[in-house]
Amino acid sequence: MTTIIDGKAVAAEIRADLAASIETLADADVTPGLATVLMSDDGASETYVSMKQRACEEVGINGIHIEIDPEAPAEELYATIDDLNADPEVHGILVQLPVPDHVDKREVIRRIDPAKDVDGFHPENIGRLVAGDPLFKPCTPHGVQKLLEATDVDPEGKDVVIVGRSDIVGKPLANLLIQKTDGGNATVTVCHSRTADLAAKTKQADIVIAAVGVPELIDGSMLKEGVTVIDVGVNRVDADTEKGYKLVGDVEFESAKEKAAAITPVPGGVGPMTIAMLLYNTVKSASLDADVAVDLP
Ligand code: GUN
Repeated sequence: MTTIIDGKAVAAEIRADLAASIETLADADVTPGLATVLMSDDGASETYVSMKQRACEEVGINGIHIEIDPEAPAEELYATIDDLNADPEVHGILVQLPVPDHVDKREVIRRIDPAKDVDGFHPENIGRLVAGDPLFKPCTPHGVQKLLEATDVDPEGKDVVIVGRSDIVGKPLANLLIQKTDGGNATVTVCHSRTADLAAKTKQADIVIAAVGVPELIDGSMLKEGVTVIDVGVNRVDADTEKGYKLVGDVEFESAKEKAAAITPVPGGVGPMTIAMLLYNTVKSASLDADVAVDLP
């Protein structure tokens, strides 16, 4: 029997634990605050940001949302970040990526105060992660790590193949899983668009994590029996539905399920975990800023 990993349920448990930490902070008159900034007309980005804001509201985090015209000068976004850095009620700042081409993405990431960088993308936070002393673990990689833990799949000593080398998922996830800590100690291979024989790599993996953004790239024929499959991909493909599209992962679910001991669905797998770990980082940031200890899940 294949376990279908229920990301919604695991995320709900984490949110419930965070609600308790938020009460502890409330006793000390502290309300965690998360600012989201959107400089895009992209429908998917709009959806993601509104989901993040709704999650804040549900758990008792003060959500602030700022929209900037995608045609506006880059300086408007930079000035907004400066204001949020200086605002004591804001503990986390998330600028939804991608930003328009005329905006320097690296400048955006560098400009956010590392102590409010709840995405964990600032070079200082990436450096700390690589050095084994993370302040904020990037949300999706941290969510993947939590999902493995909740499924009782310990990466220690396992062959993990990550498909995708993005700054947001592949690179930080590889670094998390090789750390000499609980939830790490894996042997990690990172594959990407120039990998010569992808199937040869994925077939030898105990854990395959797909984060490449190519609909259903990996199918059952590329997997070994008993593998754990974590599908980070969320791809819109044309379909005869009300919206005109449906969401599929980077893994062809039906054939992969035949091989896998455990597999995440899309949607309902990694997605809810990304949001839960964003809330986690915001609560952690508020707790550090106020010097009020909380139990984090
Ligand atoms: N765009 C896609 N994923 C993310 C994310 O995790 N954080 C931000 N800021 N933008 C994204």
